Amino acid sequence: MSEPFSARLKAGTATIHDEVEHTTFMVDLMEGRLDSSAYALLLKQYDVIYGVLESKSREFADNAVFTPFFDADLFRAERIAADLAALDGVELPVMPGASAYAAHLQGLDRAEQVIAHHYTRYLGDLSGGQAIGTLMGRHYGLPATSLTMWDFAEIGKTKPYKDVYRSRLDQVAATGGDEQMVIDETMEAFRLNGALLVDLTEATELRTVPVA
Ligand code: HEM
Repeated sequence: MSEPFSARLKAGTATIHDEVEHTTFMVDLMEGRLDSSAYALLLKQYDVIYGVLESKSREFADNAVFTPFFDADLFRAERIAADLAALDGVELPVMPGASAYAAHLQGLDRAEQVIAHHYTRYLGDLSGGQAIGTLMGRHYGLPATSLTMWDFAEIGKTKPYKDVYRSRLDQVAATGGDEQMVIDETMEAFRLNGALLVDLTEATELRTVPVA
């Protein structure tokens, strides 16, 4: 009996997840060595990426392979826009990595590809992302009004939601979906996130403040 698809996907992307998680920008941000404007710059990139991801999700909402994953309660674009306004970051620059990521999302034409990007962002936000929200408040004194993108109250408890999400991944083949295409595109999703975080590392390098 082969492992459930969700376990194979997680195991197959664990190494690249680790690499992305440990990019200098992410580590410095999470350990308090940057500042609130570095977080706002990250949010500006999310503003571009989630806008396209969520319009793609709507475009594939009636596709039998993607429908089980479609959930407007996961959508973040409005919250990200409000958080960005609260941080006065609307005019911040868009990194080349974010433009490339958005262009890639725009070109997706298979449900399996949309699932891959949906999984990478939303299950990430419901996992390590929860720590990001907490640490931004603690390290940089950001008000809750600027951290609403990490608040998923609408979906109820996170763990049972993630378990149901994984059971939907386990059903991808049964709905006629191509599991290998999901794995390949998830690798691409992590690469695009990694490239964006490298852009942000370079953009904030000169601002790293040593923590006492
Ligand atoms: C500060 C950086 C990060 C930390 C500390 C972190 C931490 C974690 C942890 C602890 C889990 C496991 C949760 C579980 O098993 O339920 C996880 C899962 C995940 N993370 Fe991250 N992560 C980080 C960054 C990222 C980034 C940047 C992405 C996406 C680009 C990402 C995508 C994911 C995904 C998709 C999962 C779900 C894996 C699965 O259960 O199939 N993470 N993360």
